[in-house]
Amino acid sequence: MRTHLQTNLDQYGTQAQAYLDSPVHAQGPDLAQAQALVGQAIPASGQALDVGCGAGHLSFALAPHVARIVALDPSPQMLATVQQAAQARGLRHIETLQSSAESLPLPNASFDLVCSRYSAHHWTQLEQALKEMRRVLKPGGHLLLIDVQGEEDALVDSHLQAIELLRDRSHVRNRAVSQWRALLADAGFANVAHDSWPVHIDFPSWVARMRTPASRVAMIREVQTDAPQEVHEALAIEPDGSFTFTTGLFWARASKDGQGRATLG
Ligand SMILES: C[S@@+](CC[C@H](N)C(=O)[O-])C[C@H]1O[C@@H](n2cnc3c(N)ncnc32)[C@H](O)[C@@H]1O
Repeated sequence: MRTHLQTNLDQYGTQAQAYLDSPVHAQGPDLAQAQALVGQAIPASGQALDVGCGAGHLSFALAPHVARIVALDPSPQMLATVQQAAQARGLRHIETLQSSAESLPLPNASFDLVCSRYSAHHWTQLEQALKEMRRVLKPGGHLLLIDVQGEEDALVDSHLQAIELLRDRSHVRNRAVSQWRALLADAGFANVAHDSWPVHIDFPSWVARMRTPASRVAMIREVQTDAPQEVHEALAIEPDGSFTFTTGLFWARASKDGQGRATLG
């Protein structure tokens, strides 16, 4: 029996190039919004950390706005892809670091920006990871967190989680906005702002990118077909299994007292 981390390494080890090429990851209004927020708030001398960098799309988008980015991921194949792509783009201030979010081998208060995109739903100890991200941020430093949103409606959320887990064994859970707000406050983040966008998922390429076995693809289609009207409407499920989820962006600051309740000037 393998651990969740080993499952994650198996899943992503062979798919690094697919993630570099994936339009869902390479594009999106969340990347433009991330660039605007970081461009306004982080000085050009800023130090940034990208947790769960995957093939590096968030690091590449933010690189023009900061002096240094540490792109961190447990998958050595993802990090090799980031190194190659950063070199091809002339981004010499992107460094890679192999680690998991739950235990960051980095000093306290050493970053102006900690960011993460489409990774937190894989983390087994999300509370611990957020505390680590808060620890390595300078007081008043910024957190930028982007991920697929869980649904506030339990019926719709159960179906979304079932579909996600059948497609990808390394999936843990998407969190709804209300859960994110509570998690961020508990981890010591204040001044939390939120934005979100619908993201259309093309079913054939979505399962191909994760090499989902045919038996599991059939189960996903069964869950979708049997789902009640409320779920069909909320996820806009189409005849070929394509559907729409919501990507959420959270922008917050490391509170100066570490409690998450103090507002910052
Ligand atoms: C979908 S990819 C990330 C996409 C990327 N951030 C982007 O902007 O395109 C998810 C990544 O999360 C990483 N990951 C999984 N578990 C993790 C953990 N516990 N800590 C940090 N990263 C993790 C995976 O190795 C994978 O590379």
